[in-house]
Amino acid sequence: MALTRDEAAALDAKDPLAHFRERFTVADPELIYLDGNSLGRLSVDTRERLHEVVEQWGDRLVSGWHDWIDAPTRAGDLLAEAALGARPGEVIVCDSTTVNLYKLACATLDAYSLSAQRALVTDRDNFPTDRYVLEGIAEQRGLELRLLEAEDPLHGPQPADLEPLLADGAVALIVLSHVAYRSGALADMEALTRLARDYDAHIVWDLSHSAGAVPVRLRDAGVELAVGCTYKYLNSGPGGTAYLYVAEELQAGLRSPIWGWFGQAEQFAMERPYEPAEGIGRFLAGTPPILNVAAVEAGAGLTAEAGIEAIREKSVAQTELVIALHDEWLAPLGFELGTPRDPARRGSHVSLRHPEAWPICRALIERAAVVPDFRGPDSIRLGVAPLYTSYVDVWDALDRLRGLVERGEQRAVDAARARVT
Ligand SMILES: Cc1ncc(COP(=O)(O)O)c(C=O)c1O
Repeated sequence: MALTRDEAAALDAKDPLAHFRERFTVADPELIYLDGNSLGRLSVDTRERLHEVVEQWGDRLVSGWHDWIDAPTRAGDLLAEAALGARPGEVIVCDSTTVNLYKLACATLDAYSLSAQRALVTDRDNFPTDRYVLEGIAEQRGLELRLLEAEDPLHGPQPADLEPLLADGAVALIVLSHVAYRSGALADMEALTRLARDYDAHIVWDLSHSAGAVPVRLRDAGVELAVGCTYKYLNSGPGGTAYLYVAEELQAGLRSPIWGWFGQAEQFAMERPYEPAEGIGRFLAGTPPILNVAAVEAGAGLTAEAGIEAIREKSVAQTELVIALHDEWLAPLGFELGTPRDPARRGSHVSLRHPEAWPICRALIERAAVVPDFRGPDSIRLGVAPLYTSYVDVWDALDRLRGLVERGEQRAVDAARARVT
């Protein structure tokens, strides 16, 4: 039997993270927001920090750069410690995840690929931008792109799925997501990284759906390269600047394919030809967006304050609650779980599959004040963000979903597909 609403309220009453909700802007208390896995909420700290940086701009004008210039590494170090399990100097906040993936993929191919290594790998279910970046690189460089098909798509790529693609020794580079955007499956980062290295291949991990929700242990897992978004569980705002990670030992041997002045050794010795800066700074390209980077710092600061282990503990309890309520209320209504049942194998969102997923999603937003999102062909994603999602939010959202489908309300909404889903 799943929890009652009173039992969910009792969990909120003793939740050590409950007070973090007050640190976020909640414009409509009736609205249940379960899409922090797509765009996190605005925090009070972020609003204040942005205001502060705007004031600095007004007051200091160009001299503000004496402080702003270090913001990408400052924010990177904070992320490294709070969310990524990396060392100071291994993470930098810059560009978008897409651009960072391109930079690290090209840098890796340029530095390491042997002449026999003419292939790239990603999995067919990976986030589209990851696939597109590799498709583009494959075309530009005359390489082959191999698409991994997981034997069990629900659980995502396993070492046994990857190994046959590596067996001929032709693969130079692999791109995988730590948490799959549709199913929420959590990959075995350490085992997959080890397997790749056994075949002289290098993995770039996409951490977009894990950082800030699942403890990521880049150093412990032997990870060489990673990228990720900050606007999901790290709450940096729409289009918030992304980050990249390069293990310290690899940095000197890698060069960004974009030779910009912010990655130059002596940036203000302007007459000199390009020579990459030492350390992670060489992966910068152009002028960092200081307001965005400040928002990343504020977002990562909240994660640091709450502690990633405590966040994960609550996330697991909340996704367990989603699954228990699904089993009891929603499975009889034609829903199917699209996420691994084992909490050790999933991230912080649960996908519920249903043939009418899109109109159900619209009806939830328009008629039940619950915000999930839809990922084709048939998944409704319910993301829990432990810093501001309560247990009662989860209970009420699933209750509203049950009532709405029992009444067939999804048939009363305009089911035309929107530009943003
Ligand atoms: C796994 C993953 N990678 C990358 C992106 C997008 O990256 P970008 O910030 O470049 O748009 C997303 C966006 O949702 C994502 O889920």
